[in-house]
Amino acid sequence: MEPTIAEEYRRFASREARGASPLYEELASGVAGDRDLIALLYGLPPAKRQPNLLFAAARYVAGTPADYQGFRRTVLDHRDAVVATMLSRRTQTNEPARCAALYPLLASLPQPLALLEAGASAGLCLLPDRYGYDYDGRLAGAVDSPLRLRCRTEGGSRFAEPGAVSVAWRAGIDLNPLDVNDPDDVRWLRTLVWPEQHDRLRRLDTAIDLARPDPPRVVRGDLNARLAEVAAEAPADATLVVYHTAVLYYVPDAGRAAFVAQVGRLGGHWISQEDPGVLPSVDARLGERPPADVVTYALALDGRPVAFSAMHGGWVRWLPA
Ligand SMILES: C[S@@+](CC[C@H](N)C(=O)[O-])C[C@H]1O[C@@H](n2cnc3c(N)ncnc32)[C@H](O)[C@@H]1O
Repeated sequence: MEPTIAEEYRRFASREARGASPLYEELASGVAGDRDLIALLYGLPPAKRQPNLLFAAARYVAGTPADYQGFRRTVLDHRDAVVATMLSRRTQTNEPARCAALYPLLASLPQPLALLEAGASAGLCLLPDRYGYDYDGRLAGAVDSPLRLRCRTEGGSRFAEPGAVSVAWRAGIDLNPLDVNDPDDVRWLRTLVWPEQHDRLRRLDTAIDLARPDPPRVVRGDLNARLAEVAAEAPADATLVVYHTAVLYYVPDAGRAAFVAQVGRLGGHWISQEDPGVLPSVDARLGERPPADVVTYALALDGRPVAFSAMHGGWVRWLPA
């Protein structure tokens, strides 16, 4: 049975916001017990009821509130503007730190690579070769990059110390590509970062600055509709890698299965970094259960789970080979 909106907001408060954003935890708990806001949310299409979308829309319209009462006033006083923002925008959080989990997998494949990211948002995860990485003090990637992604690791990695990733070609697909050179898109991307997460905001700003002079191409459209045609553009002498992070949750079950089948037919490699529960074929091969108290992604190479990873980057727990 689908959770009710109140349950969804309570779950967001305890599993996603707790320990990460005290304000979002307060807002989500508040909404869960607020009949007026729950009624407003029931008036929206199901895909537009998410906590992240509501909170970001309210902040986009009237800035970050001090507390639940301030947030509630914003939503009720600026109801039309908040709803219009929720209807016209999507949760498109683009988190470059997710590349720290991808990088060792990418580095393990025959170089150079042709990177094709499904659900790329502004394309910041299409630039893994422009970032530096610090795995518990061991440096990798573009060590002189202005953006260094720190990543704590647990467990023994089955991948060698990552060497260089060389990118011959890159492209993304998104229902609504965001443009790092468009001030409104950048304001939305910044608003999607949770309020107290100043490090994430600095990281996002640095990644946007890095992307701006030469942004990756992100094609507009549904990942299933455009995958084959975009993949056909990849150079034949590069290793095709189709990947996606935090995307398939938004795609209905049938679309997920169709996507996995299509990726299989392309003949390249496939990296998924998604919520457990989203890809049954990956889940079935997980040797252990993901942590229950915090949102964690399952990282898999060619359908084989290799690690659990943090929702917004920062740690990877390698699974036994
Ligand atoms: C949460 S964001 C993640 C962005 C990026 N992968 C990252 O990890 O930083 C999810 C993205 O998937 C896109 N998306 C959702 N459903 C899609 C679909 N059916 N086809 C293409 N893109 C989709 C959304 O527009 C959004 O930009």
